[in-house]
Amino acid sequence: MAEEKHLRDMRTVWWQEDARGEAVCMIDQSLLPGQIVYLTLAHEQQVADAITTLKVRGAPAIGVTAAFGLALALYRFLREQGETPAPVEVEEHLRTVGEMFRRTRPTAVNLQWAIERVLRRADRALSEQCSLPHLAQALRDEAQAIADEDFQACLKMGRYGAELIADGDILLTHCNAGSLATAGWGTALAPMYVAHRAGKHLHVYVDETRPVLQGARLTAWELQQEGIPLTLITDSMAGHFMRCGGIKAIFVGADRIAANGDVANKIGTYSIAVLAQAHAIPFYVVAPRSTIDLKRSSGDQIPIEQRRSDEITHIRGVAIAPTGIQVANPAFDITPHSYITAIITEAGIARSPYNKSLPDLCLGYHDTERQADI
Ligand code: MRU
Repeated sequence: MAEEKHLRDMRTVWWQEDARGEAVCMIDQSLLPGQIVYLTLAHEQQVADAITTLKVRGAPAIGVTAAFGLALALYRFLREQGETPAPVEVEEHLRTVGEMFRRTRPTAVNLQWAIERVLRRADRALSEQCSLPHLAQALRDEAQAIADEDFQACLKMGRYGAELIADGDILLTHCNAGSLATAGWGTALAPMYVAHRAGKHLHVYVDETRPVLQGARLTAWELQQEGIPLTLITDSMAGHFMRCGGIKAIFVGADRIAANGDVANKIGTYSIAVLAQAHAIPFYVVAPRSTIDLKRSSGDQIPIEQRRSDEITHIRGVAIAPTGIQVANPAFDITPHSYITAIITEAGIARSPYNKSLPDLCLGYHDTERQADI
């Protein structure tokens, strides 16, 4: 079945349990497309490092990873404690590991959301006097549920988004918001996959996405695997092809969406949205509700991750700029809601005014505890 093939081919993060113990496994995205290497991480510190160094990246995928990482931390903690630890020690350990994961990447709210969800599951189980081995299983199951729900949400977003794509459309995307960035299918790429499988002919312009090249390395690879024709361009070519390349719509993902519809996504997204409006091209953001942060009233309140300067000054270890210069490397930017045609979620499509449509779509989804915590 086509859907199963997609999942198998693009498996991003998964849980492994065998005679050697428990581990969080993932495809090393930092080596793609040149090498396909699977990592088996048996320590939560390795999981945190994998997130920081972009071995796993993409907002939903890092949420799933941190959730499995918390379960792993508990299994390890229980194995290493000679005597059964007191519940309060377990709770403290999980909170410490949660804090370590939170610090890895500050912009993507899915990470914070998944950590909170697993910690809440732990609190609930402990208050019900659950045994510690059962608690570890409960956390593993919660992480798996986060992964499974994300997979289903992506498929639903794909179906909603595919309705906005016509046969023969030329599209543009930025960064990688595909299977690799999620538990499967992706966000911005899911509508393309669904449309393509329904027999629609597409052509996708893929921004290379400096400095880390998620577009060139990951999106181009994913689309090629799927058999969707693409043209790789540098980020600075996007305006040119919007003017004369026949682009009909732009699809991007999101790392955090504020209550007013402002969107944090990969650096460069804002410029594309402004250019899209100048050329009257629809600009769609595709994201699950776990990316919506109703506690932030606007994009100004979203923290922007600042990354190392050598991502800018070096390419594959080779210096491309003089030493000693000042460098800026914000990993994300904010696209104001006025540039966004629609936000496609698994619960439907939100349009302006977003401060009404987003809370409506999220009704009953974000519980009060989460809203207070993040
Ligand atoms: O720095 P990255 O590669 O984690 O940035 C990823 C993006 O900006 C994606 O567009 C976003 O996470 C949505 S992924 C479904």
